[in-house]
Order: sequence, then structure tokens, then C-alpha cells
Amino acid sequence: MKILFLDQSGKPGGAELCLIDIAKPYGDRALVGLFADGPFKNILQQHSIPVEVLTTQAIKVRKQSNFAQALASLIQLIPLLIKVVKIAKQYDLIYANTQKALVIGALASFFARRPLVYHLHDILSQEHFSQTNLRVAITLANLFASLVIANSAASQKAFVQAGGKSELTAIVYNGFDPKNYQVSESDVNKIQHQLGLEGKFVVGHFSRLAPWKGQHILIDALTKCPPQVTAIFVGDALFGEQDYVQQLHQQITALGLENRVKFLGFRSDIPQLMAACNLVAHTSTAPEPFGRVIVEAMLCGTPVVAAKAGGAMELVEHGVNGFLVTPEQPLELAQVINTCLQEIEINATIADRAKSIASQRFDVATINQQIAQLLCSLFNE
Ligand code: UDP
Ligand code: GLC
Repeated sequence: MKILFLDQSGKPGGAELCLIDIAKPYGDRALVGLFADGPFKNILQQHSIPVEVLTTQAIKVRKQSNFAQALASLIQLIPLLIKVVKIAKQYDLIYANTQKALVIGALASFFARRPLVYHLHDILSQEHFSQTNLRVAITLANLFASLVIANSAASQKAFVQAGGKSELTAIVYNGFDPKNYQVSESDVNKIQHQLGLEGKFVVGHFSRLAPWKGQHILIDALTKCPPQVTAIFVGDALFGEQDYVQQLHQQITALGLENRVKFLGFRSDIPQLMAACNLVAHTSTAPEPFGRVIVEAMLCGTPVVAAKAGGAMELVEHGVNGFLVTPEQPLELAQVINTCLQEIEINATIADRAKSIASQRFDVATINQQIAQLLCSLFNE
């Protein structure tokens, strides 16, 4: 089967990293069409996945836009649409991985007469999107998609609640190769030394810097933890959230935490960094659609605490394979950090259990098989 994948982003967010694993098995039978140039293109090339940047003109629709803005950007999209229709005719299927990709993919599927699959990586609710963007996504998915792959039950439920047809949906979690998360002790020691983390209790936060990812919650929690507790923030402001970055620095200065917090920017050695942490904290203030970082921490054997909402609740069972805390409650987060600081053995048991469950449940080979079966079934109906 030949698949044309479409993704709007030139930057490697979670949806894009997930797409790498999905496209890879198709080799030259896949093409990833991007609506922006950037480092994601290079990562795809490193994985030998065929990629083409289909436009370099910025698409102006934002997550919160009104009807007039949406219409204006649709007109702007016509040259891109013509290009995608032409390419799509050489492929069996169009696979839209993001919302703007859904808009183009839906229209292209109509004109090129190719089935459309929409991989839904978002919780389509008003917490995350404007009413207009929600309506556009649901309407196009209902009208044109043959299959909507939701990245969690939470994303599937929100899709249906917003008016999406439930019979189109299937839930498929992100897949991971457990081998990539095996880190040697010498690598851990090296990182701890490089970052001056020896002797500290390190809480890692791995996420792009954005208000809803809640880095500020962990900073607040630090004030309720003893001084050896240090936080590392791994990730960049991928989508222009510079104001938030400034706010975080101001918060740290105001709380006098300069010596207990490090910002490492975007990194590609996530497994090594996670393995060098004593705890990974996920602190999203809005429901997380899936939460790759939660599974990745488990695969590294590092205990994880996550905000109890959305897909995170499908990944973590409190006290069994990690910890859950109420979103936006720094005090509760601090209590978990302080318990982990004391109960090292219990934590090690929880982390071991999490690792073995996650290695099976999210194994990329099984997940890819699930997707392949779903795609094949579209042609056997
Ligand atoms: N990530 C990364 N480098 C960084 C920060 C994050 O490679 O500096 C990766 C992280 O390992 C995870 C992904 O980015 O695989 C983020 O996905 P997640 O589902 O957690 O959140 P998203 O940003 O997609 O909402
Ligand atoms: C999106 C979501 C994130 C999810 C990722 C992969 O970026 O925000 O929660 O883990 O897609 O499905």
C-alpha cells in the first residue's frame, strides 16, 4: 500500500515523532508531505523516510481563530491543495496527521478520489480549540474520513462529544521501541556529571515550553520540597510561546530558585536524560491527549507522576505503575516528590513494573500491526 502522509509542522512535536514510527515500515511506498520546512524534515531524512516540503508559505489559521480568518486561509491554501491532489493520485491513501493536514487532506481525498485517514492527536474540546476550528475538524472528518485513529480513549470521546461519528473511530496508542530506552549506567553518570546533578534528587520535565504543559506548576512545587530537589526542563518553545518562557524565568527569580532549576532546551537524547532523573513530572493543566513523555519515562525505568486528566489516566494507575495528581495543584505534586525522595525502594518496584507493562502495551511492532490492519480493512470492505 502506498501512503501519502500529511503533516502541517516543520517542528518535531509529539504527533510528528509518532508519525516517524508509523511511516517508517512503508519505506519508499510512503511520502510525508509537510506544510512547513524545519528540523522535522531532517529527522525524517535521517530515518530514510521520503519527505517533501509542499509549501513554505505560513498557513495563518491558529488554534483559536474565527470563521472569517478560517475562510481567508482556505483561499490561501488553493495552490497547496492543487499540489496535494496531483501527488495523491500516485498514492492509495491519504493519511492526515494534524488538523491543517485534515483540511487539505479532506479536500484532496475528494478531488483525487482516495480514502482519507485522520490520525487524531488532539482532544477536540474548547479547552484546546476555538468553536470554529472544532466545527471545521469534525465536519471534515465526518464527511471525508474513512477512519479516524484516536491516540487515546480520551481523544476519541472528545471527538464523539463534539459531534464526530463514533463508527469512524478506532483507538490506537503511540508505539515505542523499548530498545531505544535502554540506557547504560555509564551514560547516566556522564549526564549527571555534565549537568552537575550528582547528589541531587532530580525531577525532570520533558515537554515543549507552553502554558498548558504547566512547567510553572513544577516550579511552584519546588518551593515545598527540600533544597536537594532540583528540576531540569527539557524542551523548547516550539510554537512561539516566548511570553511564557519569560514568565517562567521571572517566577524562578521571584522564588529564589535559580540554583535549583536548569533549562536544557530541545534535546534528542531524551532516554539518557530521563534515566538520569529520579522522577519525571508531567504537569499539563489541560487534559493531555496521550502524553508520550509519560510512556517514555516508564520505558527508561524512571518513576513518573502525571496530571490526572485525559489520556494520562489511561497510561498511569496511581500507586501501580506511577503516580497521578490533580492538575494545577503544586502542593499535591510536592507531596508525591517528597514521598519519592523517602521511599526509594517502593518507587523502584513501581518503576520496574511500569517498564515491563509499557514495553508490552506500547510496543511499536504491535501498534504498527494494528494500524496496518485498520488500513487494509479500508480496501477489503
Ligand atoms: N521531546 C524531545 N526533545 C525535547 C522535548 C521533548 O524529543 O527536548 C519529545 C518527547 O520525548 C516526546 C515528545 O517530544 O516524545 C513530546 O510528546 P508529548 O506527547 O509528550 O507532548 P506533545 O508536545 O506532543 O503535546
Ligand atoms: C499530540 C498530543 C500528545 C500526544 C502526541 C502523540 O502532540 O498533544 O498528548 O502524546 O500528540 O499522539
